Amino acid sequence: MYRIGKEEVKEIEKVIESKKLFRVGDPKTGHQQEVNRFEKEWAEKIGSKFALCMSGGGTAALICGLVGLEIGPGDEVIVPGYTFMATAIAVLAVGAIPVIAEVDETLTIDTENIKKKITPQTKAVIPVHMVGLPSNMSEIIDIAKKHNLKIMEDCCQADGGSYKNKRLGRWGNAGAFSFNDFKILSCGEGGALVTDNKKIYERALIYHDSGTTFWPYTEKFSEPIFIGQQFRASEIMGAILRIQLQRLDGILTDLRKIKKIFYNELSGKPGVKFAKSNDIDGDCGVVVAFQFDNEKDARKFAVAEGVGGWLPIDTGRHMYFNWEPILEKRMGPNKALNPFYFPENKNLRTAYTKDMCPKTTDITSRTVFISSNPDWTDQQIKDKILFCKKALGI
Ligand SMILES: Cc1ncc(COP(=O)(O)O)c(C=O)c1O
Repeated sequence: MYRIGKEEVKEIEKVIESKKLFRVGDPKTGHQQEVNRFEKEWAEKIGSKFALCMSGGGTAALICGLVGLEIGPGDEVIVPGYTFMATAIAVLAVGAIPVIAEVDETLTIDTENIKKKITPQTKAVIPVHMVGLPSNMSEIIDIAKKHNLKIMEDCCQADGGSYKNKRLGRWGNAGAFSFNDFKILSCGEGGALVTDNKKIYERALIYHDSGTTFWPYTEKFSEPIFIGQQFRASEIMGAILRIQLQRLDGILTDLRKIKKIFYNELSGKPGVKFAKSNDIDGDCGVVVAFQFDNEKDARKFAVAEGVGGWLPIDTGRHMYFNWEPILEKRMGPNKALNPFYFPENKNLRTAYTKDMCPKTTDITSRTVFISSNPDWTDQQIKDKILFCKKALGI
């Protein structure tokens, strides 16, 4: 979260004064309709037909999306080796098996590696737009069409980002967003699913509302009601998110402006290599990404005075080789609930090793991110660039 203030407080106050914090309620009785309104506004912002806001975060949004896409036991889903572990957890949560693929120099899924990982059991791919960097959606769509795969976009770190002038989350069959505190927009914890497909939306909605006990519109559904989890959003979340959404364009404009200044000042200078981008204009600008020939040079730059850089390889559960519970197939005490032991998954690829994605390990070890802050002053941006120049010997 970058910006939050009195505007959010005012809206929360209204919800509390209404004494109606549950998302379903009658406006005639003073219910504020915050979640409903946020969903309409978020769908409009992304350009999708449907949006479903939920508690349980981006993880819940991914799970609901995969349920909507009919992914389950017997299915393999390709995920990149550089993403938060939740991407792979969501696949396991629906009983399917995550297959880990390489990322390329863009820090997003390597499309050549997707092709190599596809088997007749592959049902879906989850491109992850890490740190706001868009994946190569055109190629991913071509591959998906050729092999009849579903695409579930993980936009959790890229709220509002775009690719080829179309918002992330609109390219695949569905897109999942996170609004936890480390994301571009935040209500503390929360997420949203977007899709143009009514079936996916209805299934996700049913699943997120533990049998839709409280949902007033289900009689209009074409999908039969089934049981699910309880991921309903609260009116407090909706109220915060509606204000956060008003801040989104300003945040993205400021982040992108900073990235542009870095590029203008440093591109073409000796020793400077920015990470390749699938769409530099659509990139959220959360980070400025430098790449080096080796880890030693990357680390030297990251810790140089005033640079404040960090290496993706150091970010714990965002690296596949730190997903120990998955690599070791640990899913709680009851084995019968563990997808790795489901008979349907018996012949799927579950032989994970910590060195199975050497390209991902190599690239993440020689990339340095500098996290931007949209509220940096011109002087702070200037200083940061000067420190970078000094560290690079320019
Ligand atoms: C790439 C990615 N996917 C999924 C998630 C899960 O989101 P949440 O924590 O909101 O459940 C995160 C959150 O950090 C993430 O970064």
